[in-house]
Amino acid sequence: MSTSPMRRSYESIPRYTPDLSPCRVDLSDNTNAWGTPPAALDAIALSRSAARYPTPYGEDLKAALATYTGMPTEMIATGCGSDDILDCAMRAFAEPRERFVYPVPTFVMGPVFAQLNGLTPVATPLAELPGAGRIVYLCSPNNPTGALTSRSQVESLLRACTPEQVVIIDEAYVEYVGASVIDLIHRHDRLVVTRTLSKAFGLAGLRVGYALAQPALIHELEKARGPYKVSSIAEAAAVAALTDGLEWVKAHVRIALRMRQLLVRELRQRELEPLPSAANFLFVPMPNAVALARRMRELGVAVRGFESPSGFRINVAPWEMLEDALATLDQARQECA
Ligand SMILES: Cc1ncc(COP(=O)(O)O)c(C=O)c1O
Repeated sequence: MSTSPMRRSYESIPRYTPDLSPCRVDLSDNTNAWGTPPAALDAIALSRSAARYPTPYGEDLKAALATYTGMPTEMIATGCGSDDILDCAMRAFAEPRERFVYPVPTFVMGPVFAQLNGLTPVATPLAELPGAGRIVYLCSPNNPTGALTSRSQVESLLRACTPEQVVIIDEAYVEYVGASVIDLIHRHDRLVVTRTLSKAFGLAGLRVGYALAQPALIHELEKARGPYKVSSIAEAAAVAALTDGLEWVKAHVRIALRMRQLLVRELRQRELEPLPSAANFLFVPMPNAVALARRMRELGVAVRGFESPSGFRINVAPWEMLEDALATLDQARQECA
């Protein structure tokens, strides 16, 4: 018997260690570069409820989300970020050693949460997902590519999946698309859509996410989650962002889409071809992107470099930030050439 107190299956799992060295402009994490809705900041300042526990499963937040999404509260689960929802889904819908399947490239935390919960993550092409694993994960728009999976592709996937498969569609960037697949939940009792207030809603620091699914799945998700995961301050800010702050959010989504267009034009002028994106970031394929991103960070601008496929991902942001990032990109490219 092993004398180590550590869990053996965790040995190969790294701690999450993003580069936190200081930078002038951070365009590396797809958050809202315009900040937080003022209504949410006011709600944080006015919050006086820290001495008591919040509602067990975020009941006030669910009411606000019901209005925002058009779904009834019994079809909504809340969490400490959508990371938490993904983590809970692994426990709620699969037994240890069952497979978590996903096309690559995609959001890196899916397979990590699968492994942390004893599941076997298996990268699998989209067409082979049906029947391939207990939990199917599809991110749309996809992080890091920005690609949107069409509604008809999602519908065919749902039709082809076997009755014991749960399909998770991650809509973290849905506000930048305007179109969602949540209405399919009414017809598909194995569909879970996850979302977050960390991106368009500007609340990444408060950790608020949610899932939409039929009530039986929500019940299991909440059992796996446990009570009190959304703090009372986060809940108050999220409710404010979804109500009084909603016009601010929509206006800044429109600005972000304009900036995305401008950024595409600028990158093309530099003979770079970003992938078509439905989100608030662009993926720019190029060789040696990790070295380039490292050099840009040293020069004060953070973008995220990827090895496979080789490219960097850059947030859309206010124009001054993008101008700074583009000048830094030019310098780093010259130096890395
Ligand atoms: C596709 C996707 N899903 C989920 C998350 C996690 O978001 P949250 O802050 O809600 O945990 C991210 C964050 O980058 C993401 O890109």
